[in-house]
Amino acid sequence: MSNNRKIIIAIDGHSSCGKSTFAKAIAARLGYIFIDTGAMYRAVTLYALEHGAIPSGIADEERIEAMLSDIDINFRFNPKRGASDIYVNGDLVESKIRTIEVSNCVSAVSSIGAVRQKLVAMQQEMGRKRGVVMDGRDIGTVVFPEAELKIYMTADPMVRAERRYKELTAKGDNVTLEEIYENVVSRDKADMSRAISPLRKADDAIVLDNSHMSVAEQMEWFDKEFARVMDL
Ligand code: DC
Repeated sequence: MSNNRKIIIAIDGHSSCGKSTFAKAIAARLGYIFIDTGAMYRAVTLYALEHGAIPSGIADEERIEAMLSDIDINFRFNPKRGASDIYVNGDLVESKIRTIEVSNCVSAVSSIGAVRQKLVAMQQEMGRKRGVVMDGRDIGTVVFPEAELKIYMTADPMVRAERRYKELTAKGDNVTLEEIYENVVSRDKADMSRAISPLRKADDAIVLDNSHMSVAEQMEWFDKEFARVMDL
């Protein structure tokens, strides 16, 4: 490869369409840092749930805002996974943030302005040196509008629900396909209609619909796009 310039790769799109798997594979291939920003919103949601700030499933915005200064989020690379694990105040929460309970509350928490402000500032700092692949909902539109390569991922909602269902049941979670499908559809709606930084395709993003694509096919697609951007 003749061009060693490090760029920012922004990957946005719907929930459960394999953004993190794709982003992680790209980062490994390029030797870039992978940052899963959804994990950060999930971590704040978990903390709020554990500290009683989402009573009966309703997020108490004022309380969550007041607790933000008590939440210290960081990532530590886990060589076994080939990716970073997320910690809140020193506790490993990587698997606790993936439950359906957190999934059901995360859209409400991520629509709070103060939460977004804190996490966006952290994300911008993490990408300051470039050479990052960041996945989320607003990376190409808000966090790094100047990213050199922006990808907008999507897939059929039922295909996405089936993928997540397989993942969760393989871990032993007691869930139904119906409730996962409901969660996928309602999160799409919430993410795209919230007032602050709604999910939308950046004008200069390229669309990847992976409903019927294997990971290998997605990587092939990526290699072409990357070569184009890098002028290789
Ligand atoms: O990528 P994920 O499904 O783990 O993300 C969880 C939630 O976090 C998602 O429903 C919306 C929110 N999110 C966000 O608002 N902005 C981001 N950059 C990433 C995630």
